[in-house]
Amino acid sequence: MRVSAGLVLTRAVDRQRLSSIAHSHHPIAAPIFGVNVNRLLRRAGRQPAARILDLGCGEGAWALQALAHYPDGHADGVDVSPYALERAAGAAAARGLADRLTLHERDARTYVPDGDYDLVLCVGSTHVFGGFGETLKLAGRHVNADGILMVGEGFWQVPPTPEALAALHAKPEEFTDLAGLVDAAEQAGWTPVYAHVSDAAEWDDYEWSWVGSLTEWALDNPGHPDAADALTVAREHRDQWLRGYRDVLGFATLVLRRS
Ligand SMILES: C[S@@+](CC[C@H](N)C(=O)[O-])C[C@H]1O[C@@H](n2cnc3c(N)ncnc32)[C@H](O)[C@@H]1O
Repeated sequence: MRVSAGLVLTRAVDRQRLSSIAHSHHPIAAPIFGVNVNRLLRRAGRQPAARILDLGCGEGAWALQALAHYPDGHADGVDVSPYALERAAGAAAARGLADRLTLHERDARTYVPDGDYDLVLCVGSTHVFGGFGETLKLAGRHVNADGILMVGEGFWQVPPTPEALAALHAKPEEFTDLAGLVDAAEQAGWTPVYAHVSDAAEWDDYEWSWVGSLTEWALDNPGHPDAADALTVAREHRDQWLRGYRDVLGFATLVLRRS
């Protein structure tokens, strides 16, 4: 979910741009199939005119799908990447949803809404707030009294291996196991009413799409000044995944209500 850090590239390549290319075949920037996004949104069960906020919205895949579920709803999407937001705007226009999605190019930590929300999403973007606990606090303050907070977060499927920690540039305490994630939510005053745990096929689809999209783009644009770096980033990411965190890092999306 992160563009590999710590790589020595030949030039100052625009990582947001590479990330956007890497998500070409998988606009949901998390290891989850669309069918399961829909299942989670159904379980969130908001009213047709729901107000939705997506923090770290990327290409807006979750916000747009939420609008499909709530036909009179409106969504705000917040992200710092102009490339992701441009794709979100294009996808909204293509789906006839442009008038119901407002995109904000800004830091989600300083987003000041003009009201509260029935559904707040933060999927794969908890690093923006400094982790799961801080996300519950900072994203949670935008949720109205009866609202839903939906957070997608990593967890250790098995105790972290040295290879996984190195690949993710992570410390063991950066994630808990799945039970620990649920405990942390409850301690912060949120109760899971549903959850989806991504399976191996969802991880493989996500990672192969990420690596493959970037690789294809580099092979299709051999003369582009970023092509060599794109190939380097794709290979490095593939190694970090296959030799590092595959089957070690899990991903869960929790549907949370205030306790
Ligand atoms: C892994 S992607 C998740 C995108 C989306 N939630 C999804 O599941 O498709 C993380 C997103 O966080 C965004 N991001 C990083 N720092 C941010 C910040 N300070 N404020 C808002 N968005 C940020 C990135 O640009 C990226 O689009």
